[in-house]
Amino acid sequence: MKLRFLGHSGFQITDGGHEVVIDPFMSQNPATSVEASEVAPSHILLSHAHGDHYGDTPAIAERTGAAVVGAVEIANYVSQRGMQGVGMNIGGGFAFPFGQVRFTPAWHSSSFPDGTYGGMPTGIVLEMGGKRIYHAGDTALFSDMRLIGRKGLDLAMLPIGDFFTMGPDDALEAVKLLAPKAVIPIHYGTFDPIRQDGGAFKARVESETDARCLVLEPGDDTEL
Ligand code: NI
Ligand code: MN
Repeated sequence: MKLRFLGHSGFQITDGGHEVVIDPFMSQNPATSVEASEVAPSHILLSHAHGDHYGDTPAIAERTGAAVVGAVEIANYVSQRGMQGVGMNIGGGFAFPFGQVRFTPAWHSSSFPDGTYGGMPTGIVLEMGGKRIYHAGDTALFSDMRLIGRKGLDLAMLPIGDFFTMGPDDALEAVKLLAPKAVIPIHYGTFDPIRQDGGAFKARVESETDARCLVLEPGDDTEL
């Protein structure tokens, strides 16, 4: 499985002939040079409807015909705008051709840029290419993260930006609850209120837990 960090909370994940994208936010992202035209997924997985996650979904879906997978309110919204929506909900999983997707709780809110309610925000557990990874979306720390990690996680993508989500202190607690093999910090450095030191977070993760921490710049890729 190959991951490319698109910036903010966005990832392109490829394995064999499959490509999926999570939370693509590039064209309005001042901190990434990756362009929306560089991805061609069959499915776009959305953690919630906020503009910094929904982002380039319409342009990518229109160009590629990608299905948009998220909370049922997200699927309804995109379906009304000519996209193909797949509406799921928290706790539910489904085996797609590329792998298994399961939506988890997230403590946050969810509305589209035009104010339309986006349903409950979510995290995403994706099993693909023999790996199990958790994208936390935007969330506060919560103790049920222990349940999300109970089957073992090869990777957790966790927000560390603070202000809108958990910051580095709580994200470090999240790593202890989830016990993943690897961590990628996300949702920081994009805007002024969420500036954080990724290297300092990595040092704390690797001294206080067994996880290794990968600090990726937008556009970087890594093999899992
Ligand atoms: Ni958000
Ligand atoms: Mn966000």
